[in-house]
Amino acid sequence: MKKISRLAVLGSGKGSNFAAILDALEPGAKSGSGKIPAEVVLVASDRGDAGILDLARGAGIPVEVIRESQYRTRLSEDTERNLVAVFRKHSVDWIILAGFLRVLKSPLLEAFPKRIINIHPSLLPKFPGLNAWTQALEAGETITGCTVHYVDAGVDTGELIAQREVPIHAGDTPESLHARIQVAEHQLYVEVLAELLQQNS
Ligand code: GRF
Repeated sequence: MKKISRLAVLGSGKGSNFAAILDALEPGAKSGSGKIPAEVVLVASDRGDAGILDLARGAGIPVEVIRESQYRTRLSEDTERNLVAVFRKHSVDWIILAGFLRVLKSPLLEAFPKRIINIHPSLLPKFPGLNAWTQALEAGETITGCTVHYVDAGVDTGELIAQREVPIHAGDTPESLHARIQVAEHQLYVEVLAELLQQNS
């Protein structure tokens, strides 16, 4: 019998990648197209006002707001330990980062080895970190793209899984380029998750 993986999605922003994933889930799990053999059992955010939480609530998915006062760009060990407990309670198999703006460290990475995935809006190892599309424009590139990778303790440094190229057009602004990259992100993330979760079922 096909295994339906249980996903937790972490994000800090509007959640367009999460929306693309949601559309591609098992029809029985939520109302998806069935490309990804999974259901999203929890959405967590470090921002209580993030759009991704509204999307999750609208889809009837439990949400968790991560309270972190000690650090701005990572989570404290205690916060990560609490999150691991929440993920275990929901029997989470995979953690999917979709615009989560903090790096993860050992309690989480150790609890879910090779089970935490991220998408980044550049052809890594080029342009890690914030506003990767602006970095590509400022570097005078003609091609950029997006990358799905395993998460390690660095900033966008984990093992690469798949990449998709996106052209940079003359006259592109940061906004127009980011929008074009996001179209590619939504396709690539769904394709990679479909393949990865089928292999690991
Ligand atoms: C995406 O561009 C993703 O690559 C980056 O953060 C952005 C999140 O966008 N890590 P969204 O919240 O999925 O719309």
